[in-house]
Amino acid sequence: MNAYPVLKNEVFEEINAKPVLKWAGGKGMLLPKITEHLPTKLKFGAIKRYIEPFIGGGAVFFDIANNYNFEDAYLFDINPELVILYNVIKYDVDDLITELFELQHRYNISEDKTNFYYAVRDEYNLFDKQIDANNYTKDFVRRAALTVCLNRTCFNGLYRVNSKGLFNVPVGKYKNPRILDEDNLREVAKALQYATIIQTDFAKVLNYVNKDSFVYYDPPYRPINASSFNSYAVGDFDDNEQKRLQCVFVKADKVGALQMLSNSDPTNYNPDDNFFDDLYAKYNIHRIWAKRMINSNPNGRDGVRELLITNY
Ligand SMILES: C[S@@+](CC[C@H](N)C(=O)[O-])C[C@H]1O[C@@H](n2cnc3c(N)ncnc32)[C@H](O)[C@@H]1O
Repeated sequence: MNAYPVLKNEVFEEINAKPVLKWAGGKGMLLPKITEHLPTKLKFGAIKRYIEPFIGGGAVFFDIANNYNFEDAYLFDINPELVILYNVIKYDVDDLITELFELQHRYNISEDKTNFYYAVRDEYNLFDKQIDANNYTKDFVRRAALTVCLNRTCFNGLYRVNSKGLFNVPVGKYKNPRILDEDNLREVAKALQYATIIQTDFAKVLNYVNKDSFVYYDPPYRPINASSFNSYAVGDFDDNEQKRLQCVFVKADKVGALQMLSNSDPTNYNPDDNFFDDLYAKYNIHRIWAKRMINSNPNGRDGVRELLITNY
């Protein structure tokens, strides 16, 4: 295992990586709008460090790694399964491909796919939930393979655990789920070679940020209506967390980092709710149009405004 990240400028190969997982809040659809608002300094190769503290499915990181050059990247998430998966892809992609090949084969020949799914889920739920994802071991390969397999075969590609940390998403309905996508895993491995992936809270940004950094924040969105807000469980990303995040943004701004932050726009439903306009009054607030499923609209798809906040 490589203790230090390889610098991206040392990697001359082209990269064409896409997210490995379907992930709630994935930014795939918004990439063109995000690209429009990226700092010119990044486009001209003058950003040395990329930092993304809520990496999730990584749609933005992979797109930036495919298109721009920088020296190193720091990717964080609080979810250990993501950190385990990305480190396994970085360090042991061949072993991961072997495991996924076997899972794909077993799935294909299995006569009872539902039974196969629940057997994989049971095995997954035996893993230690209190694991320190930053302490890499070879055992992570199997765990990462099951994360991918479940994501490809569960209902809607959801990730959800109960209060005991057990993965409880039911089986999905797919004809030919692609459990192994070898080409993409190899591209993702290339993109991750110069990244350090850590299970940690977003505030750790402040340990890594400098004036040559670009930070992209994609936190769990603030719920856009009061009823869903009230039903928020303890430990979720509430308004105090959004304010704690703003403090990190302000401190990193003082260090001279360029920063972009995504969130929902409360004014879609309540024109008087200026939560983010007040919180980020000193910065630039762009309102962008996002296509989304709106449950309250029986006619199907509609759009909403979302926020892209930048300090440049
Ligand atoms: C909206 S998702 C990111 C989506 C991602 N940009 C994509 O395109 O797939 C938010 C992520 O923040 C993570 N998260 C929640 N609270 C966190 C915290 N305090 N520190 C770091 N990550 C956190 C969640 O585990 C989740 O993966």
